[in-house]
Amino acid sequence: VNHLLGIKYLNENDLQLIFETADHFKEVINRPIKKVPSLRDVTIANIFFENSTRTKLSFELAQKRLSADVISFSSAQSSVKKGETLIDTVNNILSMKVDMVVMRHSSPGAAHFLSQNVKASIVNAGDGAHEHPTQALLDSFTIREKLGDVAGKKIVIVGDILHSRVALSNIFALQMQGAEVRVCGPKTLIPKYIDSLGVKVESDLRKALEWCDVANMLRIQNERLDVSYFPNTREYTQQFGLTSEILECLNKEIVIMHPGPINRGVEITTDVADGKHSVILDQVENGVAVRMAVIYLLASKIKN
Ligand code: CP
Repeated sequence: VNHLLGIKYLNENDLQLIFETADHFKEVINRPIKKVPSLRDVTIANIFFENSTRTKLSFELAQKRLSADVISFSSAQSSVKKGETLIDTVNNILSMKVDMVVMRHSSPGAAHFLSQNVKASIVNAGDGAHEHPTQALLDSFTIREKLGDVAGKKIVIVGDILHSRVALSNIFALQMQGAEVRVCGPKTLIPKYIDSLGVKVESDLRKALEWCDVANMLRIQNERLDVSYFPNTREYTQQFGLTSEILECLNKEIVIMHPGPINRGVEITTDVADGKHSVILDQVENGVAVRMAVIYLLASKIKN
């Protein structure tokens, strides 16, 4: 398959191949010359229909480090605003001899839809509340780097699970590697299908943290929120906000993750986000190596 549409389409061997390839690229981008010529003959379009800082820049940098030609498109400044459809937009871009499309879109299934309707390799950079596969890959890569292995580890994902593509992709990736996953958050922000994924719900943050090796803190996805769902922000922070006081009461040290963007003082305090247990910026750093690996492996299939 020449696409990365979601973690659910991968298997354990795929993940290990991506991580081993990312290990190599992480070593490469820490050299004085950070660039390799691997993708000199590949052209990639990054098309973003939703806002992004980390994912967009990380994909661009990964592609440039691999020597690909890169064009970037933001729907807000494009002819989508004049009524052009997704397929017409992408087919026009592809007629400029583009090989691969990295897309973020607000509709769940948009990347899959595109893969069925255009002739290019598609990478899902986040489709609505569905999947964000490269985020889950870089999260697992970071856990593996910090704790040696993902298998057997206990990971709690805290926050707005209902609207989170990061949560769903992480659940698939972590379970595939033999980790145990729980979620913690207000009942209104936990999807009804969570049991069917084999994921337990813990409503008490302190108990969840006592249980876990890693806590992945998510922001509330206000842009996808029906206000009637939600406790107010102050109540949320009181019940589910991570503070240094809570961490100090634990009988152990845990790894703190967050995919970003952070709402400081809501789901996590500044001292925890910037503290010694936080790997938040390691996640961002690892994102470049992991995306290099994904693009390199997909491009190898295009070329062969
Ligand atoms: N983690 C993540 O996807 O961040 P961006 O929305 O800034 O890309």
